Amino acid sequence: MRYLLECDVAENEEVAPDQYRMRLHAPEIARTAVAGQFCMMQVAEGLYPFLRRPMCFERITRDHVSILYKVEGEGTSLLSKMRPGASLGVQGPLGKGFLIDCKFERHIIVAGGIGVATFPALAEALVRKCDATPEIILAARSKHLILCADEFRAMGCKVHIATDDGSAGEKLYASQMLAKLKPGANSRVYVCGPMIMMKTTSEVAMAAGADCLVSLEAQMACGDGACLGCVVESKSEQDGEKMVRVCLDGPVFDSSIIDWEAHNMAYDR
Ligand SMILES: Cc1cc2nc3c(=O)[nH]c(=O)nc-3n(C[C@H](O)[C@H](O)[C@H](O)COP(=O)(O)OP(=O)(O)OC[C@H]3O[C@@H](n4cnc5c(N)ncnc54)[C@H](O)[C@@H]3O)c2cc1C
Ligand code: FES
Repeated sequence: MRYLLECDVAENEEVAPDQYRMRLHAPEIARTAVAGQFCMMQVAEGLYPFLRRPMCFERITRDHVSILYKVEGEGTSLLSKMRPGASLGVQGPLGKGFLIDCKFERHIIVAGGIGVATFPALAEALVRKCDATPEIILAARSKHLILCADEFRAMGCKVHIATDDGSAGEKLYASQMLAKLKPGANSRVYVCGPMIMMKTTSEVAMAAGADCLVSLEAQMACGDGACLGCVVESKSEQDGEKMVRVCLDGPVFDSSIIDWEAHNMAYDR
């Protein structure tokens, strides 16, 4: 079930430079949303900016969902200025979330930068449903871009920090940190971040025989499967079609079906 609702902003706090957490009162969406799904958020009244912006659910509670977001351009800048009590149109929950399979002995979450935004809800689901505390790799360019470490520790997760400049944790890329943790065939690895980071991290996971799920991003217009604006190439053909829609078939995919070579990494943030 998906909804298009006017939701009240309960909180909207800056948690790091240009990165915010917004909590929305959205009981209907919270009731059906699962970790890895997302919503499309209206960022202003009127027709401009025209398109809603996609944001995944950071946390899902009984009456609220929260999103963790980085100010990238006009839409997210407008979001960051909304005050508690304001209301905005939210469409969701959308897309396919993370599969939860308790048979894996190790669950390893690998987050690159703001890609962490989808993972607190997943870690909570793994703790609740599998009684498993995932290992977490938080990777970012620099110390001030590492988010949610305390939240994961409060859930009992072991957190490994990797920064490009060595300002916190170890001076490693996410993929190198994953290699250090030695995933195996009994592991499931969950990855979200810049495309190049997801490609290299998935390669490490799959080479080790681990199962690997990735949460992809793409520019989205409708968020609902109609416009084909968000397609990426897959390796497998379904009904004569190799393209998959990130909004409807994903955003979470089995990494092995994504044709990473076909993606133009130069386009990434
Ligand atoms: C399924 C999904 C879930 C997402 N979840 C989150 C989240 O939880 N937190 C978060 O901070 N961001 C998330 N994003 C990215 C977020 O939607 C974009 O950063 C946002 O739409 C940018 O809007 P803007 O108006 O501020 O910037 P714009 O002015 O539209 O664009 C500014 C810059 O951001 C790039 N950009 C715009 N949209 C996207 C996009 N969808 N993916 C990648 N780059 C983009 C543009 O190319 C441009 O360089 C998600 C994207 C998708 C597809
Ligand atoms: S955003 Fe329209 S099909 Fe995915």
